[in-house]
Amino acid sequence: MSETNRSRVFYRHLKTDYPSAAAGSGAYITDASGKQYLDASGGAAISCLGHGHPRIVAAIKQQLDTMAFAHTRFFTNEAAEELAAVLSDKAPGGAWRVYFLSGGSEANEAAIKLARQLHVERGEASRDTFIARQQSYHGNTIGALSLSGNPHRREVFEPVLMHQVRHIAPCFSYRLRQEGESEEAYGARAAGALTAEIDALGAERAIAFFAETVVGSTLGAVPPAPGYFKQIRQICDDTGTLMILDEVMAGMGRTGTLFSCEQDGVIPDMISIAKGLGAGYQSIGALMVRAELADEIEAGSGFFQHGHSYVGHPTACAAALEVQRVFDDENLIERCAKVGTKLRSALAETFADHPHIGDIRGRGLLLGIEIVKNRETKAPFSAKRNVSAKLKSRAMENGLVCYPDSGTVDGLNGDHVLIAPPFIITDGQISELTDKLSRSIDAAIG
Ligand SMILES: Cc1ncc(COP(=O)(O)O)c(C=O)c1O
Repeated sequence: MSETNRSRVFYRHLKTDYPSAAAGSGAYITDASGKQYLDASGGAAISCLGHGHPRIVAAIKQQLDTMAFAHTRFFTNEAAEELAAVLSDKAPGGAWRVYFLSGGSEANEAAIKLARQLHVERGEASRDTFIARQQSYHGNTIGALSLSGNPHRREVFEPVLMHQVRHIAPCFSYRLRQEGESEEAYGARAAGALTAEIDALGAERAIAFFAETVVGSTLGAVPPAPGYFKQIRQICDDTGTLMILDEVMAGMGRTGTLFSCEQDGVIPDMISIAKGLGAGYQSIGALMVRAELADEIEAGSGFFQHGHSYVGHPTACAAALEVQRVFDDENLIERCAKVGTKLRSALAETFADHPHIGDIRGRGLLLGIEIVKNRETKAPFSAKRNVSAKLKSRAMENGLVCYPDSGTVDGLNGDHVLIAPPFIITDGQISELTDKLSRSIDAAIG
C-alpha cells in the first residue's frame, strides 16, 4: 500500500488486513464488499441482542436528544439511577450499589481500588495482596492484567505489573480433575488451593480473591465444579478476604441467568460486569458492590478515591437500561438458556466422532470447544501449528465470526474456540454455525 493510501488506524494487529464492517442486522455483520458473516461469538461475547436492535437504537437517540452527558462530579442522571435500581433488584441478595464505568477492565480496576480502600477504612491497612487464578483474564489495563493469569498476555509487561498478586490453579475439570475423582471432590480440592495460599500469605495480608465465574477467553468457557464457589465463599468469610467475581463475559444473561453466580448459589462481595450490559451499543461496564460494603464507605470517608470522565455516562446507561427491558419483554435470558442447550447438543452431534475435539463445555450461550491432537491423551497440537490463528482466518473466509485462542493447557500450548452467539439465534443459524465451524476447524487442522 502506498504511503498516501495507508490507513491511519492503529489496528490490533498491524500485519492483518481487516474487512471493514459496514452493516449489522440480527446475527449478521456485512462488510464493505457485501460479504455476510454469522456473528457466532458476539465479537467477544458482547452482542447478546444481535446487531441493529431498534429499541436500543431508539433509546440512545432519545437520551442524546434529551441530555447526552453530564459529569458525575456535579450531577447524577435518571438513566444511571434507574439502571442501578434494576441491576440491584435483579442481583443475588438484592441490595447493591452500582458504579458505572466504560468497560470490563475499568470495572476490575475499580474493584481493585475499592477492595483495598475498604480494608484501609476498616483499619486493616496490612492487607496488601490480591489472590487470583492462573489462566484467567480480567482485562488489559495494568491492574486488571496483573490479576490475569495468562502468561502470554502478561509476558511483555511482566516487569511493570503489580506484584502484590498471587495466582492459584484454576478450577478446570477437563484437565485438572484426577482419574476417579468426583466433580464435587475435585471442586473441594481446587477451592482448597485458596486456603493454602491465604495460609502461606497470612490472612492479615489478603485483600480479595478474584475469579471469573465461568472462565472465558483464556480457557474457553470453563464453568466451576459443583460446590467450588460455595467453598470459596466460606474461605473468604473465614479469613476476612473479599470475594470478587468477574462476570464481564459470563454475566448479563449469557450463561442463562442474569448473573452466572446465581447458578452457584453464592453472593459475592463485588461483581464486575460489562460486555452484554451495553450489548455492544455503548461502551459500558459496572462494578456492583454489596450495599453493606458501600454503607461502610458512606459511614467512613464517604468518598471512593476513584473516578473517570465518563463514569455514569447517561447515554451508555440509557442503552443498558433498554437492554434490561428488552431482556424482560422478550424473555431473552430464558431463551438463552434453552437455545444454549440446543446449540450444545448440535455441537456434540457434529463433533461426536471428531478425532480432534477433546471437550465441549460451558453454560448457556457461553460455550467452548477444546481442540486436541489426541482425544484419548488430551495432548494438544504443537503451538508452532498456530491452530487457533488459522481457525480464525478460515472461519472469516467461511463467513463466520468465532473466537479461537491458544494457551488452553498451560498458557502457551493448547487451542480452543469460544462460541457465544446472540440470544436471538435461530435453529437455521445454529445449523449454519455448526456447518461453517466444522469446515473451518478441519481446514485449520488439515
Ligand atoms: C472475564 C473478563 N474480564 C475483563 C475483561 C476486560 O473487559 P474489556 O475488554 O471491556 O476491558 C474481559 C474481556 O474480554 C473478560 O472476558
